[in-house]
Amino acid sequence: MDLQRRMFVLGSAAASLMAQGAERLATAVIGTGNRGSYLLSGVIEQPNAKVAAVCDIKPDRLDKAASAAVKDNPSTYTDWRKIIDRKDIEVVFVATPPHLHAEMAIAALQAGKHVYCEKPIGVTAQQVKEVVKAARGSKKMFLAGQQLRSYKQLGEAVRKIREGAIGDVIMVKAQRHATADLPHDGSSGDWYFDVSKSGGYLIEQSVHNLDACNWAIGAHPTRACGFGAIQLYKNQPPGRTIFDCGSITYDYPNGIKMSFTQNVFHPRGLPAGNQYIYVYGTKGAVDLMGSATMYPLERDAQPVVLAEKVEEARHGHITALYDAITKGTALPADITVGATAALTAILGHEAMVKQTVVKWSDLGVDV
Ligand SMILES: NC(=O)c1ccc[n+]([C@@H]2O[C@H](COP(=O)([O-])OP(=O)(O)OC[C@H]3O[C@@H](n4cnc5c(N)ncnc54)[C@H](O)[C@@H]3O)[C@@H](O)[C@H]2O)c1
Repeated sequence: MDLQRRMFVLGSAAASLMAQGAERLATAVIGTGNRGSYLLSGVIEQPNAKVAAVCDIKPDRLDKAASAAVKDNPSTYTDWRKIIDRKDIEVVFVATPPHLHAEMAIAALQAGKHVYCEKPIGVTAQQVKEVVKAARGSKKMFLAGQQLRSYKQLGEAVRKIREGAIGDVIMVKAQRHATADLPHDGSSGDWYFDVSKSGGYLIEQSVHNLDACNWAIGAHPTRACGFGAIQLYKNQPPGRTIFDCGSITYDYPNGIKMSFTQNVFHPRGLPAGNQYIYVYGTKGAVDLMGSATMYPLERDAQPVVLAEKVEEARHGHITALYDAITKGTALPADITVGATAALTAILGHEAMVKQTVVKWSDLGVDV
């Protein structure tokens, strides 16, 4: 069946199910901490979802999640495998610490469930490879939590870049700087500072920025080199193994270069802070994450806004998953997007750790 026909059939099926007052999709959230409780609030808002179960190993978080979803009276579990075993659960959200994503997402896919998997989808190339295999081997939807892909303004700016608004893309300069480290005794303190659990700052956080860079360039890097270090927060918190800063150079097809820096000690008030992505083309450059404005190289030409600011839907990415399931619409961040983003971050991280050039092909994952 061709795609258009499939969409029509799926669309009609969904419409008629809705008209009959169809069952809402039974959904479970595994990991109801900071992000998981936010995702849960998004699931609660969806007209075609009901919260069937919540799961967390921490009783206070589990209680909070169960209270938030009280209208659906969800089951509560501390063992995530009980969710996988529940035949009635159709959609699983994975919002546990990053090193657990792959195992949980794979188990859910293999049990025939649709999956929303928080980023990064894996912290090692091997984990990513296994998630790719499970997602491609499943008929169910897999959405990576790379929610920038659902941002309308960003999407419009990328579309204009793709149409040639800045000429050919030739270079990118991007950064993710923070004014402070994550609180050492905060919600994520028990995993974030351990590189084997979070993957480190580049893999855990900058994966969003790197995904947007790939999106704008329209490709993934072919190799990377870089350096990272713990410069300020030495042994803080005790046993810390994640870098607090780093600088990576990525090489992309067609000679496109990208320079990316990260740190957690960019003081408030110091110019050029926070996060930005400047995409340089043969005709000018665009401030992609900011005003989406293109600044022409031509001396007297005026800046052009590529995409107007819009009010982004709070849970647009979650709605996109349920739309894909019920209406057959395209996923904004499918397995290819999620895997490519994670691998781009893993490539940069490995380059920083090994202090040598690491090639994309060295990662051994076919995306
Ligand atoms: N997309 C985004 O913008 C975004 C933002 C923040 C966090 N995240 C991602 O969400 C994930 C969670 O981050 P967070 O900030 O919510 O961390 P968190 O520590 O606040 O929450 C993680 C939760 O998982 C629970 N957990 C740990 N092991 C478990 C297990 N075996 N079974 C069930 N529950 C378990 C913990 O008890 C905790 O409540 C991370 O992967 C993070 O990268 C994504």
